[in-house]
Amino acid sequence: MNAPTPKKMFIRTYGCQMNVYDSERMTEALTGAGYEAVDAPEDADLVLLNTCHIREKAAEKVYSELGRIRKMAAEKAERGGGAMRVGVTGCVAQAEGEEIVRRQPLVDLVVGPQAYHRLPAMLDALDGGAGAQVVTDFPTEDKFEALPQRAQRKSPSAFLSVQEGCDKFCAFCVVPYTRGAEFSRPVAQVMTEARRLAASGVREVTLLGQNVNAYHGEGDGGAWSLARLIRAIAGIEGIERIRYTTSHPNDMDDDLIAAHADTPELMPYLHLPVQSGSDRVLKAMNRKHTAEDYLRLIERIRATRPDMALSGDFIVGFPGETDADFEDTLALVEATRYAQAFSFKYSPRPGTPASTAEQVPEAVKDARLARLQASLRAHQTRFQEDCVGRTMPVLFEKAGREPGQLVGRSPYLQPVHAYAPETLLRRIVPVRMEAAFPNSLSGTLIEEVA
Ligand code: SAH
Ligand code: SF4
Ligand code: F3S
Repeated sequence: MNAPTPKKMFIRTYGCQMNVYDSERMTEALTGAGYEAVDAPEDADLVLLNTCHIREKAAEKVYSELGRIRKMAAEKAERGGGAMRVGVTGCVAQAEGEEIVRRQPLVDLVVGPQAYHRLPAMLDALDGGAGAQVVTDFPTEDKFEALPQRAQRKSPSAFLSVQEGCDKFCAFCVVPYTRGAEFSRPVAQVMTEARRLAASGVREVTLLGQNVNAYHGEGDGGAWSLARLIRAIAGIEGIERIRYTTSHPNDMDDDLIAAHADTPELMPYLHLPVQSGSDRVLKAMNRKHTAEDYLRLIERIRATRPDMALSGDFIVGFPGETDADFEDTLALVEATRYAQAFSFKYSPRPGTPASTAEQVPEAVKDARLARLQASLRAHQTRFQEDCVGRTMPVLFEKAGREPGQLVGRSPYLQPVHAYAPETLLRRIVPVRMEAAFPNSLSGTLIEEVA
């Protein structure tokens, strides 16, 4: 008997790596429930928008995208292509809930980040004639345990969420509300998933969490730290590289710093957001550390791992930020010498404490952002140029744009282009860096590798 023709699903992902990971897990869950992933929404039987709520207009963007999808769904029906089910998942789903269905009745499904394992049952309910399904509570069962295990993968590099949620309540941030209280997946569950990834050809895992270095999952003999988890994953046959993101400065303990020296699989790249260089602003942000604490921490990290590439996040124009506060941020950037960094204008988020304070004028935010970005760009250019002439191990991930070219990653997370045979895909190979670009490097193989 032939299997029934799979239905087509399309998932569009916004926001952070945790959403990318969640989209992969939803794809896997729905593949088991009679769907296949397609690359465009036009003919899809199910379209999911996996959304982000971190900055302003995120929700508005979702509504305008839903407007476009509504037209697509009508066109599909006119062509005789049948119905298109539409769902909103992720942090906007969590924040807006029922309101999404009220504003856009086309939407059949609204699912918060902790309830994705319920998707197949929700789709069954719709097939059975039920009305729009909205789940934004934090169910007691564990979504990770209930989702099917990881499928065969094309890329040698994979994300693995180990921690989710946040209890820190920075005054600007929606994450504690959209992702819920901080929790860590148990060690055994993470190890099983990491072993499966290795068995399916993965060579590099990036451990994910909103505050991944606060990891404290249950393992042998009690709670394990992230450092202990990393050392255990490093012991898995086939796993050659480990990364983790995002870290909070206050959870960067000595053991994790030490792991960067004693665990060769752990890559020398650290995303460690500081947000501001002004103690006054840090205090108002509820970050619970000073600029000096951060700079000391960077010194300790560099003393242990001198080549550590540092990355960060910054917010300009937080309520009450003065020119002097902003100068402190520029000074911190000079002292830290980031390899890469992300910077944003403060965006008031409904329900967060800072949103009701008096706002910094938009023009001031624009001017500060431009200055900060110029400074960060100069540091990044210096870091990129310093790589030229060095030989680095590169993990080749996929074909490049030019024929005969592959693209991989350096230990410092930079994309590296090189002419190399396809037999080197998924392998870590020494490459001599010949040229630096703003966000990537190009190099040549230094030896014949079969
Ligand atoms: N958990 C991470 C970051 C999560 S959000 C941490 O603690 O650092 C990613 C980044 O978005 C933040 O680091 C911050 O720089 C930015 N961000 C968060 N809320 C914001 C807001 N309301 N306006 C502007 N940027 C924001
Ligand atoms: Fe948001 Fe702060 Fe938690 Fe990071 S630590 S997710 S910025 S509340
Ligand atoms: Fe966005 Fe939610 Fe991630 S708000 S940044 S998708 S945790």
